[in-house]
This record gives sequence, C-alpha cells and structure tokens, in this order.
Amino acid sequence: MNGSTTHYGRVARYLHWGMAALFAWQFVSAGAHALLPDSALDEFFWPTHKLTGTLLMWLVIVRLAWALRERHRRPRSLNLAATLGHLALYALMIAVPAVALLRQYGSGRAFSPFGLPLMAGFEGEIQWMTSLGSLLHGLLGWTLLALVAGHVAMVFMHRRLGKQDVLVRMVGRRSLS
Ligand code: HEM
Ligand code: HEM
Repeated sequence: MNGSTTHYGRVARYLHWGMAALFAWQFVSAGAHALLPDSALDEFFWPTHKLTGTLLMWLVIVRLAWALRERHRRPRSLNLAATLGHLALYALMIAVPAVALLRQYGSGRAFSPFGLPLMAGFEGEIQWMTSLGSLLHGLLGWTLLALVAGHVAMVFMHRRLGKQDVLVRMVGRRSLS
C-alpha cells in the first residue's frame, strides 16, 4: 500500500497509471472535438468528456490527499526541475477540471454526472464563471498535455542516459529490475 524511498506504493501507482489512462481518453475526446468535429470519433468520445473530466477531478483530490499523507514515504525528487514539474502537473490536474466545473455551475444548467445530482441548476447565468471557464479551460487543458509530453520525455531521457531509472519507481518492485 505505502511507498518507500525507492518505490511508489501500490495506491500511488494505481492512481498514477489509472489516471494516465483516463487522461489519454480525455485528450482523445478533446482532440477529436477540436480537429475532427462531427466525425465518428468525435461522436463516440465527446459525450464522455464531462463525465471522465468529473471523475478525474474526484481522483486528483484523492491522489493529492494520498501524496500529502505519505509525503515522507516516497522516492525523493531527482532535482528541483522534477519537483517543480510534478507540482505544475498537480496544479493543472486540479485547475483544468475545476474551471470547467465552475463554468458548468455558472451556466445555471443542472449537472448529474453518473446520475449523482452534483448541480441542481438555477434560472439565469453567472457571467464571470462562464467567461473564466471559456477563457481558461481549453488553454490550460492543452498546456497540461504539453507538460505531460515533457514529463514522459524526461522519464525516458533519464532512463536512456542510464543515470537514474525513475520508471522502476513507478512500475513496481518486480517488473523492471
Ligand atoms: C482533467 C480533465 C479535463 C481535461 C484534460 C479537459 C481538456 C479539454 C480540452 C483540451 C479542451 C479544448 C478542446 C478544444 O480546443 O476544442 C476541452 C474542452 C471542453 N471541455 Fe474539457 N477537460 C477536462 C474536464 C472537463 C470537465 C470536468 C468538463 C465539464 C464538466 C469539461 C467540459 C468541456 C467543454 C464543454 C469543452 C468545450 C468548450 C471549451 O473548449 O472550453 N471538461 N477540454
Ligand atoms: C506514459 C505516460 C507516463 C509515464 C511513462 C509516466 C512516468 C512517471 C514516472 C516514472 C514517475 C516517477 C518520477 C519520479 O519519481 O521522479 C511519474 C511521476 C508522476 N507522474 Fe507520470 N507518467 C506518465 C503519465 C502521467 C500523466 C498523464 C500525468 C498527469 C497528468 C502524470 C503525473 C505524474 C505526477 C504528478 C508524478 C509525481 C508522483 C505522483 O504524485 O503521482 N504522469 N510518472
């Protein structure tokens, strides 16, 4: 369950890889919507965008709480850049769905993801919420994708240069050693 100074624990690993899969799904839905509007891909993925996004919002809260709880039982960051990179990933993992949910609330429309009545809806609109969401959600979403690309590139760069195999920390004790 818990991590150590050499490996992330099972909870952290399941959250990391489970969320990475959901993010891949989420970016396919956003990409298809932006680049191939009304295509079969867009029609298949887009109806899942708000649901997957809301699920990711809940999961990142759990992940952050877990990371704080076991902060002294995790592998140490390689350097300052890695620490800042991971912090930026967390900040965007929270901000991207948060501004979308703020916009959803401000629109006044009821929202019941997975049948759970999250937002009851109301008459009218809260303009600053919808404007903020429309201004930032897509922009920060694509910024997150760029950061993820950099994150993955750095992992494999460290592995190839043979200096530090950080992948083994996130994959588990047996798989890569
Ligand atoms: C971490 C989760 C999420 C990611 C990574 C994400 C990513 C994105 C991206 C990159 C776009 C831009 C697509 C384009 O340029 O056309 C977008 C659009 C959109 N997203 Fe999300 N999204 C997430 C969560 C959510 C949530 C929770 C909601 C609503 C409850 C939502 C609703 C929308 C809507 C309505 C659009 C189209 C309008 C716009 O471009 O702002 N998203 N999303
Ligand atoms: C193929 C995709 C991915 C690979 C190979 C990968 C690999 C890794 C590895 C090896 C670590 C440990 C780094 C270290 O200890 O210094 C790590 C940590 C981390 N990764 Fe990824 N990652 C991927 C996708 C993602 C995605 C999509 C996100 C978020 C949007 C993400 C967010 C993080 C964060 C925040 C950490 C810090 C540990 C934590 O709190 O979970 N990763 N990743």
